[in-house]
Amino acid sequence: MAEYEYDVLVIGAGPGGYVAAIRAAQLGLKVACAESRETLGGTCLNVGCIPSKAMLHASEYFDIAANGTMAKLGIKVTPELDLNTMHGQRRESVKGLTGGIEYLFKKNKITWLKGLARFTGPNSVDVAGQTVTAKDIVIATGSSVTPLPGVDVDNAAGVVVDSTGALELASVPEHMVVIGGGVIGLELGSVWRRLGAQVTVVEFLDQLLPGMDGDVRKEAAKIFKKQGMTLKLATKVTGVVVDGKQASVTVEPAAGGAAETITADCVLVSIGRRPNTEGLGLDAVGLELNQRGQIETDHDFRTKVHGIWAIGDVIPGPMLAHKAEDEGIAVAENIAGQTGIVNHDVIPSVVYTTPEIAGVGLTEEAAKERGAIKVGKFPMMANSRAKTNHEPEGFVKVIADAETDRVLGTWIIASVAGTMIAQVAQAMEFGATSEDIAYTCHAHPTHSEAVKEAAMGVLGKPIHI
Ligand code: FAD
Ligand code: NAI
Repeated sequence: MAEYEYDVLVIGAGPGGYVAAIRAAQLGLKVACAESRETLGGTCLNVGCIPSKAMLHASEYFDIAANGTMAKLGIKVTPELDLNTMHGQRRESVKGLTGGIEYLFKKNKITWLKGLARFTGPNSVDVAGQTVTAKDIVIATGSSVTPLPGVDVDNAAGVVVDSTGALELASVPEHMVVIGGGVIGLELGSVWRRLGAQVTVVEFLDQLLPGMDGDVRKEAAKIFKKQGMTLKLATKVTGVVVDGKQASVTVEPAAGGAAETITADCVLVSIGRRPNTEGLGLDAVGLELNQRGQIETDHDFRTKVHGIWAIGDVIPGPMLAHKAEDEGIAVAENIAGQTGIVNHDVIPSVVYTTPEIAGVGLTEEAAKERGAIKVGKFPMMANSRAKTNHEPEGFVKVIADAETDRVLGTWIIASVAGTMIAQVAQAMEFGATSEDIAYTCHAHPTHSEAVKEAAMGVLGKPIHI
């Protein structure tokens, strides 16, 4: 009889966990995956990436029809919102994709252990009262919404909500106050603004989108303001009081000063996410958390405890689905004795607003701290395709090492920035210089030509400006 029931047990079936489970099974290992949700796919498929993009996509069409863009193209329409159908198509997308993972589990003979998993020893876990043993265990428990002390989220009531509640609102709020001008606040704030809500974003820092390039943060603020969002930067929320269907949000300058009360019929709390480790029984195996509540690993995703590995939102690094997925593949390969590597210097990030905002590698500020750099910037206004499509906002900025010309980072604001960033990520993975990008033939007319022109800008010679 084998010493353990499974070769690999993965805890959590989000993009990190389900990918790790599938890859491990593909490599011939006997795999189980514990997941406490009713459906597989984790935060991303159930209440994150997928449903938010379903609402962003649908609301963008509504906005294009309502805001006069179609009229500019010679198409006159007066849109009427059918929010029930919009929510229905969101639910269908989620159902289709989570069901797809269940199919892939069956196809790869992965056992889904339904319930919460808790360590009882280095190689054993309790799942819903059943003890399961495995030679290697991967922690992929993801993250949850960070609460704001003193502010109670009630997604069912729909007045003070988190991202999950904001995806499900039964009607368009008149006034939505978004606490936190990060990725979730701007994406979900955009959804409801497009559908008719007045949106006020309250951000503690003096700019939106922490971690992104400074130019991008400034330009994004201009664009969101122009779209009609009210931005209260360098402002903190000191309290939220709910009275029936109304909320009073008290804010004051972050540096201190006179308080002000804003009334709203919906308040979205989106001030970040924190790793899921509570109730996991980490004490039973002697695993400690770092100061940010994360599980530390080495480059192979091994924790300090032999046979226990960790990936995704529960470990340090950006909380992104594609980062979790790549770590899922790498950890499975490492467990199988292969060499699984993730290059954490080249992880693209995308904000799916209109226009999209994307970046990969270093910001200009971080690159300057590292040494001498050259920067090339090209406005989308001068890109023939963007101009023709009435999408003139934004730019591409390529940052290269002044001595070696190697590309260190690229930042894009453009309607299809999320698609454009992939070519730069690939180029950076291959160690490309700005000259390599500038002398690569790009199809005309495409938005991506702006990447080529920005790279030409690094060399001092763009053509179209
Ligand atoms: P998760 O997806 O969080 O999955 C962890 C799973 O583990 C969960 O299903 C949980 O139920 C389960 N679990 C936890 N503890 C236990 C336990 N003890 N036993 C059993 N099961 C357990 N990222 C992007 O890259 N692009 C996007 O567009 C994007 N949009 C987002 C939009 C929103 C609104 C949100 C909230 C997030 C978004 N993200 C996006 C982030 C993305 O969802 C996460 O980075 C990603 O899901 C992390 O994957 P993971 O596998 O580490 O964890
Ligand atoms: P975030 O970290 O992106 O933004 C939170 C914002 O809230 C920050 O700007 C922060 O300064 C601000 N803040 C914190 N406390 C505050 C307070 N008390 N008052 C006012 N502002 C305050 O976190 P967010 O938006 O909640 O998203 C969580 C994570 O989910 C992101 O880090 C991202 O990794 C992931 N995500 C990714 C998406 C994508 O890739 N498109 C989409 C949505 C989420």
